[in-house]
Amino acid sequence: MNAEIDYRSEHLVDLFNRMARTYGAVNLMSSFGFSHLWRKACVDALGVQPGHRCADLMAGMGESSVLLAHGPVTGLKIDAIDFCPAMTSKGREIVERLKLSEISIQTADVLKLEGAAIYDRVCASSGGNSPAKEQNE
Ligand SMILES: C[S@@+](CC[C@H](N)C(=O)[O-])C[C@H]1O[C@@H](n2cnc3c(N)ncnc32)[C@H](O)[C@@H]1O
Repeated sequence: MNAEIDYRSEHLVDLFNRMARTYGAVNLMSSFGFSHLWRKACVDALGVQPGHRCADLMAGMGESSVLLAHGPVTGLKIDAIDFCPAMTSKGREIVERLKLSEISIQTADVLKLEGAAIYDRVCASSGGNSPAKEQNE
């Protein structure tokens, strides 16, 4: 099917707000568990060093940030940024529960970030099919 994909930010925020409750489980099941391995491969490829400042863009609930924080490299500072409030709110709950103080979760559009930030590593991961694509198939 060759339907137009709607990339407007208000559409995406609404879509992920509605998906947030089941996002993790659906990704894991629909990818047969590969979502976790794909993110792990993405995070490993960053080659982080102790003390690095990292950005996790379009971070969802901070899935990749949590993998980074649980990795062998210490002293990381991770900014996880996503514009969907339902995703970032769940992400903050997870980060708080796991006591991962190195992760800061921000609700913002990554294309409209204010101020300058310098990162040693930047990651953008996806745990499965793009939701816009799924919606149009
Ligand atoms: C497929 S999810 C990926 C989430 C996570 N990184 C993962 O590995 O599962 C895509 C995320 O990108 C976010 N997103 C899309 N465009 C964005 C933008 N311009 N600024 C911030 N977040 C955005 C959505 O809200 C959604 O949470």
